[in-house]
Order: sequence, then structure tokens, then C-alpha cells
Amino acid sequence: MIKTQNLSKRYGDVLAVDDLSFSVAPGEVLGFLGANGAGKSTTMRMIAGFLAPSAGRVSVCGHDIEHDPVAAKACVGYLPEGAPSYGEMTVAEFLDFVADVRGLAGARRAERRRFVIERLALERVANQVIETLSKGYRRRVGLAQALLHDPQVLILDEPTDGLDPNQKHEVRRLINELSKDKLVIVSTHILEEVHEVCTRAIIIASGRIVADETPVALEARSRYHHAVTLRFDRPEQFAAARTALGGLREVAAVEADDRGLRLTAIPRSGGAVLPAVSGLIAANDWDVPELHLEAGRLDEVFRTLTQSPASAGAPARGDNTP
Ligand SMILES: Nc1ncnc2c1ncn2[C@@H]1O[C@H](COP(=O)(O)OP(=O)(O)OP(=O)(O)O)[C@@H](O)[C@H]1O
Ligand SMILES: [Mg+2]
Repeated sequence: MIKTQNLSKRYGDVLAVDDLSFSVAPGEVLGFLGANGAGKSTTMRMIAGFLAPSAGRVSVCGHDIEHDPVAAKACVGYLPEGAPSYGEMTVAEFLDFVADVRGLAGARRAERRRFVIERLALERVANQVIETLSKGYRRRVGLAQALLHDPQVLILDEPTDGLDPNQKHEVRRLINELSKDKLVIVSTHILEEVHEVCTRAIIIASGRIVADETPVALEARSRYHHAVTLRFDRPEQFAAARTALGGLREVAAVEADDRGLRLTAIPRSGGAVLPAVSGLIAANDWDVPELHLEAGRLDEVFRTLTQSPASAGAPARGDNTP
């Protein structure tokens, strides 16, 4: 339903997007991740038809965005980065304006308007001028605008940026709900969000794809995949466990948090440490009020993939021990 082929964008000397090719199908929620300036917004603007590519093609719902822009844009809802334009309008006026542009009329117009106002909790500010809204409310108006015509494809550039925790939760729930019969691309800097809403994540660095997989597979690349963290109450047990864990054949490294009396046992590549660690706890009769088995740390995987100079060659699973 979305297909990009060799998509590139050059701004003068800056190659913001470099030869991106990927396809996304309905039902997928694709998370777009990358450091500041990686090229996420530029890519999303090209897919939404708001920016012409320097090279390559984009097709949306079977329509080429360059040759058939009206049909392509009709099936896309796009939330740009930052605040909506037309800040001098009230929320109600702005939604009416968008409804006109989208050709919504009659009962359907009223129904869609009601839906977005209700789901993004905008009743209270309907008659307020957009410029005078708080950042989070402006973001919500932007989302309402993107959803108004019930598009098949949603391109949301940092949809939860600036929202309070309750609204973040609401918007994630809304995305989950909408994704049942739509295709959604979201960019975010909030890595937990990838877990909560995305079925797939693309990490880009310097305009190129460095990873394209499920959030679970991405986490499995972490050196903390299947690591076990223990918390102790007694400093002497903490000290003894630190040495004993380090001596286990299955353990590649032990990280210690001296203040919190926590130890993390990191497994050797692809291995498991839980059985050996449990055995040690039982044998020594330690008091361990908390024990936690990790799936992996996305922030660490993200750093590995986006900071190393050789980021184009993504490390294989478990191959990223420092
Ligand atoms: N209109 C423009 N003119 C010149 N350079 C631009 C323009 N827009 C973006 N760039 C450059 O293109 C690169 C990619 O920018 P882009 O906004 O796509 O990054 P991003 O991944 O969305 O970053 P962020 O996480 O900060 O939102 C950056 O180097 C940026 O400075
Ligand atoms: Mg951006």
C-alpha cells in the first residue's frame, strides 16, 4: 500500500535521504527511528506528497505521488512535525477548513468532526484560537486534522511529542485501534512507544536504513537480551553475589549498581543465565527481593546502530559486546 523505491532527497550539499526502498502493508504500524537529523521527517514529507524527491518514487494506495498526487493525497492523513499552520483560526474553524479541503459534507462531515473532537478531547478548546493553545493541545489539533477524512494511510511525525502521559496513552491506544484496518507510519524518539504501538521498526542513520525488523527482534540484538538483574537488601550478600556471578561460565559480564544493591548478569552471546543464577541464589540462600529477566534494551541497540561510524553494517545478534 506504500512503496518507496530508491527515494532520495538532497538539500544542497546535504544528502538528507539516501536511496530508501521499502514497502508497508495495511495493518502494519511502522516506527521510524533515528537520531536528530537522520532524515525521518524528510522521508515522511515525501511519502505524504508535501516534498518532491530528488530521485526515486513513492506510491501510495497504488497511486504514484508524482503523477497522480490528488488521488495519492486523498488516501493519506499527515501530521507534520511541530504546530499546525493557520494558527490564527479557532480549532472549530480549522477543522471546518480541513473538512472543506477534504470534500467532507453532510452527515459524514458531522460524524467525523464529532469523532475527532471526542477522541482527541478537544471540546473544551473548540472555540479557542490555535496559536493560544498549549503545545500538547496544538499537537492534538494536528492529529485531529490528520484523522478527519478517515484516511487509509496515516503518516504521523512524532504524534505524542509534547503530550502529557494521559494523552500519550490515549493517542497510542487510538493508533492501535486505527491500525486494524489502516497503515500507519509513526516517527518517535520514545523507544517504549515502539513496543507499545509498532509492529515493525525501521532505524535510519544519515538517510539510510540500518535496521528493519520487529521490535522484539531489535531487542534481541541487545547485549542485555536475557540478562538477569537481582536486587539485594544486604550489602554482604550483594558483594558475595557479585564475585560468584562473575565466576559463572554462562555469564559474560556483571554490572553492579552499588547504591541500589543491584547486579545485572549479562549472558554470553545467544545464551541464557537464568537457570545458573537461580541455582546460585538457592545454593547460597540469598535474600533476593527482586529478580528481573530482560528482553533487551532498545536504547542500547539504538545507540549501537546510530552512533558507530560503521552503522551501515548492522552488528549481528549478540555480536556487540564492547
Ligand atoms: N529545508 C531544508 N533545507 C536544508 N536542509 C534541510 C531541510 N530540511 C531538512 N534538512 C536537513 O536534512 C537532514 C534531515 O532532516 P530531517 O528533518 O528529515 O531529520 P529528522 O530525522 O526528522 O530529525 P529530528 O529527529 O530532529 O526531527 C538534516 O541534516 C537537516 O538539517
Ligand atoms: Mg523530524
